[in-house]
Amino acid sequence: MDRPFGLVAELTYRCPLACAYCSNPVELAAYREELGTRDWLRVLTEAAELGVLQCHFSGGEPLLRRDLADLVAHAHGLGLYTNLVTSAVGLSRRRADQLRASGLDHVQISIQADEPGLSDRIAGTPSFERKVEAARVVKELGWPLTLNVVLHRGNIDRVAGVLRCAERLEADRVELANTQYYGWAWRNRAALLPSRAQLDRAEEQVRAARTRLAGRMEILYVLPDYYSRYPKPCMGGWGKRQLIVTPNGDVLPCLAAHTLGLPRASVHDEPLAAIWADSPVFQRFRGTGWMPDLCRACERRDVDFGGCRCQAFQLTGDASRTDPVCHLSPDHRLVTDAVRAAEGGAGQKAAARPHR
Ligand code: SF4
Ligand code: FES
Repeated sequence: MDRPFGLVAELTYRCPLACAYCSNPVELAAYREELGTRDWLRVLTEAAELGVLQCHFSGGEPLLRRDLADLVAHAHGLGLYTNLVTSAVGLSRRRADQLRASGLDHVQISIQADEPGLSDRIAGTPSFERKVEAARVVKELGWPLTLNVVLHRGNIDRVAGVLRCAERLEADRVELANTQYYGWAWRNRAALLPSRAQLDRAEEQVRAARTRLAGRMEILYVLPDYYSRYPKPCMGGWGKRQLIVTPNGDVLPCLAAHTLGLPRASVHDEPLAAIWADSPVFQRFRGTGWMPDLCRACERRDVDFGGCRCQAFQLTGDASRTDPVCHLSPDHRLVTDAVRAAEGGAGQKAAARPHR
């Protein structure tokens, strides 16, 4: 068993934005009772003892937690590399100064598009100008800045503009990540899935920008699962490199594992090390023993680990099947049907009404 490399500390699911592709749980009642400061300080200490090197403070919107700077300072004191994953709504100069003093290493800001009207429509609230202002503060304070853009049918045609916007904001890195279909994104899939022609155009624009910006800005382009021949190695393998702690203290191997109905593991009940090593939720899909014969016999089993368990569950109702994104999967038709619908009229019609 490997040691975990990264901790995603989901401090709260509260958020000022309402993006139709949000991967947070759709039912939030179970997460209203958030861990207190002392609990989080303990979790961070236990994570460092377990070997975690990077801590991503995420949400929802982590800036909604008043104790964020204290948590960052504690993680920094433990020697963790700290990353803030934020909408930037609430990242005032005063807040940024506090976080700088606490030792925050890196800031990742989401933007929804390259121009205010579209960005605000996708975010469900006026926010673009505040994001731009916050990005300037981040650069002024000398942090490395990553801009994160979730791509979908409604904004993928703006990729060239998004990259020019990132250049103006002097981002060090841009992550263009095609939507993953969990949570709200799953509900809105028909409206969000882009067409092949849109993807081809976007890829061409990314290639051109990479050449133009070589050495100045790193551009990461995460391919959309549904158009790939093979699935992604989700989370670098189940229970292999990452752990997630949710706002109520549940510990999960991935962002969507709460959907699988596995036994809960909570920081209220056990130390992180015991959960990582022995809990049923981490053991369930660790290694290759759980795999269907197709994957177990496949030469890519240690490359993609049979794909994403949550996607397999979402699409087939059985988390132990081969990820249907794989073209070898007996369920692959579930993916090609969705793609065909996006290419035809269904996507265009649905695009008018993604919702939260
Ligand atoms: Fe990956 Fe399984 Fe497909 Fe092989 S058969 S490529 S291991 S998902
Ligand atoms: Fe859960 Fe991929 S999101 S395994």
